[in-house]
Amino acid sequence: MTGCSQAFIFFGPPGAGKGTLSQMCVEKLRWSQLSTGDLFRKHRSEGTEIGRQIDFAIKSGKLVADELVIKSVIDWIESADCPAGVVIFDGFPRTVVQARLFIELVKEKFPKLRLNVIELEIADEAVMARLGARRICQNKSCQAVYSTQNLEFAPRVEGKCDVCGDELVQREDDSKAEIVRNRLAVYHQHEGALLNFYRENGVRVTQLDAQKSMDEVFENFEKMVKEIQ
Ligand code: AP5
Repeated sequence: MTGCSQAFIFFGPPGAGKGTLSQMCVEKLRWSQLSTGDLFRKHRSEGTEIGRQIDFAIKSGKLVADELVIKSVIDWIESADCPAGVVIFDGFPRTVVQARLFIELVKEKFPKLRLNVIELEIADEAVMARLGARRICQNKSCQAVYSTQNLEFAPRVEGKCDVCGDELVQREDDSKAEIVRNRLAVYHQHEGALLNFYRENGVRVTQLDAQKSMDEVFENFEKMVKEIQ
């Protein structure tokens, strides 16, 4: 992460649009991104030792153990490029333990890094609808994201990926309402403690309305970034 001067933590419930907004920042602004969810899914599909250890947590919508998360994040940080000087942490930290260790690491290794939390706000019912409609490309090296509910994210040809033409499928942890409800419950269980932790440690938290259209979300986020800088 050498060369990074600013970091944004995208914090929000499953389906809030963290991955979608991150992808827009990567494509339009050339920012760097770490999605711990994507990283773990890659481990699972490649059948690595970490992939085997996290299999149950991912399938059932529980959190991966903090030690494994921190180790994976440190490995990523050591090798990451930061061409535009800004990095997004998408879906990390998710517990106070992760946040504390991360802030200690930043203070020690990147003392000049400016850290901001963006809290993506969306109602639980909207999350249930979005995740029921989410489809992803089954090609492991593509994984583009679509929606059967929202025209903004519809593929050009039904059921096929616009990028590589492969089949679109449902993510395993989106496939049952019970698992999605569990993921939401896990998020709400940690939400208050994490936000308090950031406030107590002087990390700025800014709210972003994630229920608007994607273009509006991106536009509002860009305005927010200018105000923060
Ligand atoms: P992860 O992959 O991070 O899942 P998540 O937090 O549940 O978030 P999602 O990927 O489901 O949603 P998103 O907010 O990125 O939404 P998206 O942009 O796709 O983590 C998966 C699992 O890994 C966890 O359950 C856990 O087990 C483990 N894990 C990961 N990090 C961990 C950590 N730090 N500690 C411990 N365990 C960890 O959008 C959703 C849908 O909505 C899409 O279809 C999209 O097209 C659509 N959409 C997006 N924006 C809009 C919009 N503005 N309007 C309408 N539709 C929209």
